[in-house]
Amino acid sequence: MKLKITIPVTLVALLIMAFFFSAHQKAPLLNVPSHFPKPVYPFERNPLTEAGVELGRTLFYEALLSKDNTMSCGSCHQQASGFTQQGHALSRGINDLSTKRNTMPLANLAWSRHFGWDGRIHDLDLFPMVPIQNETEMDESLPNILEKLRQERDYPNLFTKAFGSPEITGERLLKALSQFMLTMVSANSRYDRAVRNEGATFTPDERAGWILVERKCSGCHPEPLFTDFSFRNNGLSKTANDDQGQFDITLKNDDRYKFKVPTLRNVAVTAPTCTTVDSPR
Ligand code: HEC
Ligand code: HEC
Repeated sequence: MKLKITIPVTLVALLIMAFFFSAHQKAPLLNVPSHFPKPVYPFERNPLTEAGVELGRTLFYEALLSKDNTMSCGSCHQQASGFTQQGHALSRGINDLSTKRNTMPLANLAWSRHFGWDGRIHDLDLFPMVPIQNETEMDESLPNILEKLRQERDYPNLFTKAFGSPEITGERLLKALSQFMLTMVSANSRYDRAVRNEGATFTPDERAGWILVERKCSGCHPEPLFTDFSFRNNGLSKTANDDQGQFDITLKNDDRYKFKVPTLRNVAVTAPTCTTVDSPR
């Protein structure tokens, strides 16, 4: 008799516990998709936390990061366009100034070792210094930004949640921005669900296109990331502002007109990535 009651009671208790565990178990902040290689970002140096990602998101959309408090990272990296800015081949920054290049799409950054069309930066944590200081993008300095953030009511609290104390430092700001950007993983398109055998299928035309891309494009845009993150000259004619890409950084003749291979993920919304259309003002 005792046993008869104990078993159902134990079962119910287990079910309730299972419910609470599943309800409280949060999805990991960065899921490495099963068909992807290992990420290369040094997560041990900057582990993702929920509060860190949240702070990074707030900072990404924070206009105080620009000199006149009008431009945020999100002004150019717009989510609906695969984190690019549409409408101008050469993106527009502070005071509607024309920048030198087109905004790069942001996705799967944890798999990339070099950043920028010309690969000038080798550490994602340092990249935000480029747009922050560029006079056509945000035209601001890190010390000024930190001072502005310290005047805001919410930031000390957000920094405490993310890093354990209220100090607002450059290192923390940059790490939080990376944490947010690292969560921008593109791995759930119909292509992904088809290759993972999750029920999605290709139409005959799509299948033919897939084979064509494997044959003709995978030297630079290999699956599953659709970029090898290398720098290549794809033979596009000279741009209006004669942007020579990686040559600007290395000054090696062989690097003239080499640009970072962009991913073909989200390509329906990211074009154009090149600088061929209009000239700088
Ligand atoms: C005025 C528009 C503009 C703003 C504002 C801007 N970006 Fe960008 N972003 C660009 C452009 C243009 C590039 C390509 C730069 C180059 O190659 O010279 C780029 C490239 C990048 C890349 C490199 C991506 C890759 O795959 O190599 C990252 C990361 C990035 N931006 C993050 C940020 C962050 C974080 C901020 C805010 C602090 C920001 N951007 C603000 C336009 C902008
Ligand atoms: C030799 C390396 C190389 C090969 C091969 C190559 N590409 Fe690219 N691709 C690039 C580079 C580099 C860029 C960026 C060029 C720029 O912006 O000036 C690019 C850009 C693109 C873009 C623009 C992406 C965007 O976000 O707007 C598309 C689309 C594209 N390639 C498709 C293809 C297709 C389809 C093939 C095969 C038929 C192919 N590429 C073969 C190197 C290559």
